[in-house]
Amino acid sequence: MATSYKELGLVNTKEMFAKAVKGGYAIPAFNFNTMEQMQAIVMAAVETKSPVIMQVSKGARNYANGTILRNLAKGAVEYAKELGCENPQIVLHLDHGDSFELCKDCIDNGFSSVMIDGSHLPYEENVALAKKVVEYAHQFDVTVEAELGVLAGVEDEVSAAESHYTKPEEVIDFATRTGCDSLAISIGTSHGAHKFTPAQCTLVNGVLVPPPLAFDILAEIEQKLPGFPIVLHGSSSVPQDEVATINKFGGKLDAAIGIPEEQLAKASKSAVCKINIDSDSRLAMTAAIRQYMAENPSHFDPRQYLKPARENMKKMYIHKIVNVLGSDNKL
Ligand code: G3H
Ligand code: 13P
Ligand code: ZN
Repeated sequence: MATSYKELGLVNTKEMFAKAVKGGYAIPAFNFNTMEQMQAIVMAAVETKSPVIMQVSKGARNYANGTILRNLAKGAVEYAKELGCENPQIVLHLDHGDSFELCKDCIDNGFSSVMIDGSHLPYEENVALAKKVVEYAHQFDVTVEAELGVLAGVEDEVSAAESHYTKPEEVIDFATRTGCDSLAISIGTSHGAHKFTPAQCTLVNGVLVPPPLAFDILAEIEQKLPGFPIVLHGSSSVPQDEVATINKFGGKLDAAIGIPEEQLAKASKSAVCKINIDSDSRLAMTAAIRQYMAENPSHFDPRQYLKPARENMKKMYIHKIVNVLGSDNKL
């Protein structure tokens, strides 16, 4: 039997994005795979009074099981209320859906939003696939994110040898023919903790600063599609203090470089209304666990090391919401 997201107290992205574009801020889209990530996301969203997108990749479904993640999202709504938020605005979103069947399965099983990522396909195939998903999703008030342009690096199982920025001349045709509700674009971000090589960066006051995002392309896209919700993937900033902690306590992360937060703050003020962050949560969790393990070698109760991990992720989520995306106090 199908489960509608409405029964779970979740919302789709429609109203949330309209308000964010108008208000000049972005909604955080945090990936989650575990209960601790879910708890940290909900605590951060409630404390800051922020709407939030909790997103699940195909890999997350494989790791944690789709039914369990859906019920964690249901629990997230109830937990937010228990924490004192009367009307939580929580979206359960499929990140990088790679087929109609996967999107349909999520739509039929409690997701309020799905991404169909046909960005690696030839243009006409991307249009046809996105349109098919939109036609199905809209029957159930589920919103759809599609992507034009390919990010450098690895997009789940979608690999791209090089970055292909979104072509502004294609966006009107793509958005009109697919009917998608939001559009993920490629303007220089990429997935993971190694977005740039040191050789691509400039050394400023001892800090490696990567090349800026292509704000000119973003401006052209905004001009072609005024007010249309734009999404940025690959938006972790790879906090250097977390990288240093990981390396100090036995890790080995060489040259991990992310997107400077000032650039993300600037993008948030534009039509960019959804910013995807996964790697920063992984770093915050790993740094806290590595430190705890090193400092408490005799401990073996997972609650002992998962508690500081959860606290560290919560701190990071609050920082992003308040100091980078500006989605606090928007409920
Ligand atoms: O964009 C990719 C997300 O970071 C999800 O990654 O497929 O390893 O869960 P994952
Ligand atoms: P990061 O790897 O930069 O966190 O990007 C996450 C993302 O885009 C999920 O879709
Ligand atoms: Zn992504």
